[in-house]
Amino acid sequence: MSKPIFILNGPNLNLLGTREPEIYGSTSLADLKAMCEARAKKCGLEIFFEQSNSEAQIVDWIHDAINGSDGIIINPAAFTHTSVAILDALMNVKSPIIELHISNPHKREEFRHHSYTTFAAQGLIAGLGVNGYVHAIDAMADMLAAD
Ligand code: DQA
Repeated sequence: MSKPIFILNGPNLNLLGTREPEIYGSTSLADLKAMCEARAKKCGLEIFFEQSNSEAQIVDWIHDAINGSDGIIINPAAFTHTSVAILDALMNVKSPIIELHISNPHKREEFRHHSYTTFAAQGLIAGLGVNGYVHAIDAMADMLAAD
């Protein structure tokens, strides 16, 4: 029986749509969730789409994903650059992990060039705007079909 794909979003992504729109665009988190649900449905996948500003909550969701999910798409946001705790949690996940960024962190400030979490990911999508989520769902569907 297939399990949902966890799409996890880190701090400040609740402000999507109004947060630095020149970097992150004008799509709200609610609209992004609807986009992801529509794409997942087309791919025959179920999703669990969540956002939290709390590192502990994200670690807990990753723990839930260990047995409760077929894959994780994660935008750890600022925790990408700081969180060994999120990396350690991700290292326990056997199913595919795709790390995603709306912007291209490598085109931005130097402190965004290092990612702790990428070490646990099979794939990385960055700089494609919120459309990156749609690509990540397609890529996840391909990875699961190839399994
Ligand atoms: C981000 C990039 C991070 O550097 C930043 O802290 C974010 C969002 C992105 O989606 O482009 O909050 O992960």
